[in-house]
Amino acid sequence: MNRALTPVLKAATTALALIALTAQALPPGTAIEIRDRLTPFGQVCRAGEACGGGSTSTSADGGGLSGQLVYDQFCFLCHATGVSQAPLFGDLEQWQPRIDKGVDALVATSLEGFNLMPPMGACMSCSEAEMRGAVQYMIDNAL
Ligand code: HEC
Repeated sequence: MNRALTPVLKAATTALALIALTAQALPPGTAIEIRDRLTPFGQVCRAGEACGGGSTSTSADGGGLSGQLVYDQFCFLCHATGVSQAPLFGDLEQWQPRIDKGVDALVATSLEGFNLMPPMGACMSCSEAEMRGAVQYMIDNAL
């Protein structure tokens, strides 16, 4: 063992022992109570987290919010009613010319914005993968 490290290890061991003693000095249940109090109210359910039991709100590939969830929270505001000439959800006639541009082009315009379509479809916290999921969800529902 490296001699220079020995005092450091001893100090670390002592510190750990002290922490262990302090933890034991707390009344039973306290640590759990503190953890519960620190848990944020109304947590966002993210991919890979066990929340709500069998929730379908996350995408299958673990890439964050599902396309449907992003659509339901942001895109529907305009695309459900066709506000400002937004192509209507589920309307193939309106979507076909756009689909013809290719998914990548649609994802690009969604990220950057396009005329009255706001950048990121107003989901500023969305990742590119989440935007792609939302675009794909809208395309799938038009076909
Ligand atoms: C504030 C209203 C609004 C919101 C919110 C919105 N859109 Fe749009 N979107 C539009 C409008 C308007 C257009 C049509 C733009 C045009 O063709 O001039 C459009 C067009 C599009 C297009 C076609 C782009 C193209 O290149 O033809 C896609 C894809 C799209 N939106 C995806 C989304 C997604 C995904 C979301 C949610 C993350 C979203 N939009 C949210 C208004 C909106």
